[in-house]
Amino acid sequence: MDILSILVLNGPNLSRLGKREPEIYGNHTLDDINRELTEAFPGISFDFFQSEEEGELLEKLFHCEDQGNCNGVILNAGALTHYSIALRDAIGAISIPVIEVHLSNIYAREEFRRTSVISEVCSGVISGFGANSYHLGVRGLIGMQELK
Ligand code: DQA
Repeated sequence: MDILSILVLNGPNLSRLGKREPEIYGNHTLDDINRELTEAFPGISFDFFQSEEEGELLEKLFHCEDQGNCNGVILNAGALTHYSIALRDAIGAISIPVIEVHLSNIYAREEFRRTSVISEVCSGVISGFGANSYHLGVRGLIGMQELK
């Protein structure tokens, strides 16, 4: 199998992991999660990016698509998941597979979190496994590449 390049994209407030509502999101910081991914998948080339800004996330997705060497995206869009039509349209506008991930199970939380406007344009959805959601997302992408 060729080396895969995967973008791990995190949206608003995920920079606060470790400090933010640990009873919901756990104790791992985003740096911990990213480091653990690198350790768990030594054969994968990761690009890690987090922003509080919706537009920066869109630009990163387009950059990734235009570069032509990105095999897939692991996306935790945070609250944008629930209302950003701009993000949904951006995912729909690119051809690389995007896996939607969430640390918490969004379907077991408040009503407003039970709707994702991006799921329909994502290749898969993983929600509720804490930091492991990212690992499961990477496994999903690897499986998709093997099917090609
Ligand atoms: C989240 C769930 C979202 O509802 C929330 O806004 C987040 C994090 C998660 O990883 O569980 O910021 O995406």
